[in-house]
Amino acid sequence: MITVVGSINMDLVVETNHVPGKGETKLGTSFSTHFGGKGANQAVAIARLGKETGMIGACGTDSYGEKALKSLKQENVNTENVFLFPNETTGIATIIVSEADNRIIVVPGANNLLTSGEIERVKQQIIGSEIVVIQLEIPAETVQTVLKICKEHDVPVVLNPAPVDNFKEKFIDLATYLTPNESECISIFGENMEQSLERYPNKLIVTLGDQGARYYDGEKHIFVEGFRVEPVDTTGAGDTFNGSFAYGLAEGMGIEEAVRFANASASISVEKQGAQGGMPALGEVLLRLSDVDA
Ligand code: RIB
Ligand code: NA
Repeated sequence: MITVVGSINMDLVVETNHVPGKGETKLGTSFSTHFGGKGANQAVAIARLGKETGMIGACGTDSYGEKALKSLKQENVNTENVFLFPNETTGIATIIVSEADNRIIVVPGANNLLTSGEIERVKQQIIGSEIVVIQLEIPAETVQTVLKICKEHDVPVVLNPAPVDNFKEKFIDLATYLTPNESECISIFGENMEQSLERYPNKLIVTLGDQGARYYDGEKHIFVEGFRVEPVDTTGAGDTFNGSFAYGLAEGMGIEEAVRFANASASISVEKQGAQGGMPALGEVLLRLSDVDA
């Protein structure tokens, strides 16, 4: 079983040709809601691949929370250890999509109420996991508690350091794998990426968008090439990568093989709208991998 500890959000997505400036109002072109939150996304990515997946997180009892929970259950994610907070709103992300870029504001709501106290109550699930996956849309102190439990009990843990503002230096030694993208890597370790990678062999895996990902194996730098596709929506590509990477490791793949598997999985996820839309089943990933081998 893989456990994901993290956020559950509803994504409120607005598309527009013009992002408003200060004091301006603009007409957008579409509005849609999608299930999101880095934690929930990573859990769904793993469950779609067919692996037993448990989520530890928090929701409000508002309609977004009810819908998000129901959807996680439908995705076969075990939600027994998702805590409900009646007087709090479920996390939301407002995502403004324009030609130029994506802009995201996350309001954590109930995600901020997932504290070390809740973690202590579900400690057994963490200890009993083959691998744990965690990100930074919950309080940093909670992340630290989870990382410590994992370290004490020799449970490997993938820390996806996003959003990076919530990263703490002491996470580095506690995590088994750290999976920043390039800008997160620079903000944590500084400009010299080669040097950072060499300092943390087989731990620091830097994702490079559709270029793939890289790490240092103790002797040489390994680049694992990505799969180029025409993306429809790249929201959640990183989450698909992280969930699929953890799946690969749990299934006994080495780092390089798990990264290649995760690259293939992420490349499929961006072909459909929404963070979780497009996250593939195992067969689809194997097919993409074999397309290239052939
Ligand atoms: O990683 C993508 C996710 O980040 C979105 O689903 C949104 O909820 C934000 O948390
Ligand atoms: Na998608």
